[in-house]
Amino acid sequence: MTQPIIELDGVSVCYRLPKEQIISFKEYAIRWLGRRITYHELWALRDLSLSVQPGEVVGVIGPNGAGKSTLLKVIARVLKPTLGRVRVVGRIGPLLELSAGFDPELTGRENIYLNGAILGLSKREVDRRFDEIVAFAELENFIDAPLRTYSSGMVARLGFAVVTDVDAEILLVDEVLAVGDESFQRKCLARIQAYREQGVSILIVSHNMQTIRDMCDRAVWISGGQKQGEGAPEAVIQDYLAGLDLPPDHPLPQTASLL
Ligand SMILES: Nc1ncnc2c1ncn2[C@@H]1O[C@H](COP(=O)(O)OP(=O)(O)O)[C@@H](O)[C@H]1O
Ligand SMILES: [Mg+2]
Repeated sequence: MTQPIIELDGVSVCYRLPKEQIISFKEYAIRWLGRRITYHELWALRDLSLSVQPGEVVGVIGPNGAGKSTLLKVIARVLKPTLGRVRVVGRIGPLLELSAGFDPELTGRENIYLNGAILGLSKREVDRRFDEIVAFAELENFIDAPLRTYSSGMVARLGFAVVTDVDAEILLVDEVLAVGDESFQRKCLARIQAYREQGVSILIVSHNMQTIRDMCDRAVWISGGQKQGEGAPEAVIQDYLAGLDLPPDHPLPQTASLL
């Protein structure tokens, strides 16, 4: 086995939420000084270990609130683990998620430049990629309208087009593939497939079991912040679905998204 490109060792993440609602900053400061703020602790990940080899495509499945997004955020270094260790050796692409860093008041065009800058591209580099990004997102007719007039599917398309158009050795994809119409989803999958062929390591969070089957070398099932299973996608998917207690004729899990 080669050296893993991503390695998590006993990672736990605890979110602290103030127990009472605090109305003003002044009240917050007074309580903080008096040590009178009590927190509710929520362990979103518990003692999770995982390693990903270069070029591997790993699917992450589990119910809502399982800790899937938290896992990707820890790998992307958006979040620091409360306990445990994260080691990432490859060049990591930006985290692809639905709430990408867009400004609703700016136009699609301006947001492409804004995001390009956030991703470390120069204006010239964005100029060079611009037409291709807009074409991929299929937003030619809307590119000068403010983003707040876009549907969530349009925003996601733009996010996917901008963000995947960068050089990276690791791609983190959080449920982005679930939005948009089928033809766009196919385009996204084709692009991910191309990355896969170039040897990029990919983590995909999806509720679409078919996507996990088609795209992934391995699946990881998490629930309640803990790893419940890991291995060949089909076997892990079967264990996960068996635990969901769905009626036998339930049509969703095999084909469409499981919300
Ligand atoms: N910023 C946050 N502050 C407090 N709790 C959070 C935050 N983000 C997520 N959580 C909680 O952590 C748990 C795991 O969330 P998440 O990683 O988003 O799960 P998933 O992506 O699997 O739906 C959930 O109970 C969620 O409510
Ligand atoms: Mg999530």
